[in-house]
Amino acid sequence: MRSTHTFPGPSWSELGSVEVAPADAPGPDVDVLVVINEPVDLALYPALRLIANYSVGYDRIGVAAAHERGVAVTNTPGVLDAATADLAMALMLAARRGVAAGDRLVRVGGWEGLAAGREVSGATLGIVGLGRIGSAVARRAAGFDMRVLSVRRSVGDLDEVLRASDIVTLHVPLSAETRGLISRERLALLQDGATLVNTARGDVVDEQALVDELVSGRINAGLDVFTHEPHVPSELWDLPNVVLTPHIGSSTIETRAAMTRVVVDNVLAFVRGEPLPNPI
Ligand code: DGY
Repeated sequence: MRSTHTFPGPSWSELGSVEVAPADAPGPDVDVLVVINEPVDLALYPALRLIANYSVGYDRIGVAAAHERGVAVTNTPGVLDAATADLAMALMLAARRGVAAGDRLVRVGGWEGLAAGREVSGATLGIVGLGRIGSAVARRAAGFDMRVLSVRRSVGDLDEVLRASDIVTLHVPLSAETRGLISRERLALLQDGATLVNTARGDVVDEQALVDELVSGRINAGLDVFTHEPHVPSELWDLPNVVLTPHIGSSTIETRAAMTRVVVDNVLAFVRGEPLPNPI
């Protein structure tokens, strides 16, 4: 068994000794590989039978090719909904209320001059993707007295939700269907002063079009994900109307340990010949 990282939390040690090596180093005897949503070159692993993905998203893993070779793939659904929904709320609040810009101002000795924010309480929130994470955001939004509009797969009119919302938050997985879903034309549907929050995947949005909208100052945003991570478009670095975080949706001590537990349970089930708890 090989892993491309070591993973946090007490359950990792249940796997015993694991070879830790990069995903692209040959492993003729490796039958289980633990990765973080990384491409796997199947030719390097002739004995591979399981890719256990430490992530709910698996957009960078060639699942169809793995299945064709008889390699199972698992992920970590369910345990990171709260952490990701919390971050979406944090980005909404930070972007609307000038939290990051205010922090920067105070740190350089400033006090006055921050532009007044926009309310989150009572705002209309558009949730694009009402799965587990989107639903967790909807529950939080109720506590902020927000009016929630949502789009779930093919149910709901995305364009209408984009037009009608003060804040739009994205919670769809990246797939052939959702790549570029928030196109330049759709970004143009957002109201002036609207907030876009993305904790899903950078490629769900046309990043250059989003950069153009943010540079123009017409909308604001809270962004945790980007098209070419860890690259963040330099045009965004100094903008006051965008809050930037380095893909930390699931990054809490509790959630990361829970994700390790899920990975370990899938690997142990494989080793014991039991049904995998979280097959993709
Ligand atoms: C996921 O699990 O897909 C997250 O984006 C990883 O942090």
